[in-house]
Amino acid sequence: GKSGYDHFMLKEIHEQPRALRQCLRERVNEMDGKVSVDVDFAPERVQFVACGTSYHAALFGAQLLQQSGIPAQAFLASEYATATPPIGDDLVVGVTQSGETADTLSALREARRRGARTLAVTNVVGSTAARECDQALYVRAGPEIGVAATKTFAAQVVALTLLALSTGDGDRDAIGALRKLPGNVQAVLDESTAREVAEEYVDSDAFFFIGRGLSYPVALEGALKFKEITYEHAEGFAAGELKHGPLALVTSETPVFAVVTGDGEQARKTIGNVKEVEARDAPVIAVTDGQSDVERYADHVLRIPAGEPRTAAMLANIQLQLVAYHTAAMLGRSIDKPRNLAKSVTVE
Ligand code: M6R
Repeated sequence: GKSGYDHFMLKEIHEQPRALRQCLRERVNEMDGKVSVDVDFAPERVQFVACGTSYHAALFGAQLLQQSGIPAQAFLASEYATATPPIGDDLVVGVTQSGETADTLSALREARRRGARTLAVTNVVGSTAARECDQALYVRAGPEIGVAATKTFAAQVVALTLLALSTGDGDRDAIGALRKLPGNVQAVLDESTAREVAEEYVDSDAFFFIGRGLSYPVALEGALKFKEITYEHAEGFAAGELKHGPLALVTSETPVFAVVTGDGEQARKTIGNVKEVEARDAPVIAVTDGQSDVERYADHVLRIPAGEPRTAAMLANIQLQLVAYHTAAMLGRSIDKPRNLAKSVTVE
């Protein structure tokens, strides 16, 4: 059942601290800061294939692997035919919650025909992806009923972070941040003012989400979740792309959610983009850890605990899940089973 929650989606959003604890269990050695995910992982190059929310997790994973010095690229599974075919020591990683998504299975099969090794990152033990791939990495989020992926996305991102960390020889900062993550997610759930933000902007014309670096996939995911369950027009952009087109859509009736974490170069640049939308009178909602001065340019702030960059993006995502949920609830939408959508898409 829904354990007292109005919807499975809200229940699953609240199950995220537990899902992440399960995902981390016995994979992190607190003594030496080393990570082991029981996957033989020493690729020359990595290609990710995935759809929808799982593609956003893959974009995140590809950035983390690049940071660890492993060339990696994420492809929409349905566009994998356009990729340079994998060779020799390449690893093709299918990220799929259900393990049954037709587009992803077909991209993985194509990769295997080309002789590549394959890894399934999935939530479902014994799923088709898990059975067909050479190896499987389970994200251990527990069963997800809501069509909108929430806890499985969080667990995918953590599993991919562990995979990237497993290639190094111990990153204490990252391990420490991961260890604190379930508690920090709980703090966001307990203190979020997302409902007030939803109330304020529910009647808007369109909703935009911007971020750069690791916050870029979060912007895309924020928008996907929002459109999926509210049926309102929502778009996610790389913050730097705004002025190359989307800015033409920005008005006083289009709230812009800006994901800004840390206080480095990327935050500074996104704040530049925030000023551009503010100058067009768009309401700005900053999703931030309070490290930069973005709040000065924001009409609302959705706060996340300050921490490590790799976990900040994920905490920001929790806020965006809640905004989408509360907006959809106010609009009376069919949150757990949005129109026209299925939990797993088994046709190409
Ligand atoms: O089971 P999968 O992770 O392969 O599913 C991929 C997408 O169909 C899925 O993430 C979809 O985008 C979700 N409904 C988004 O909430």
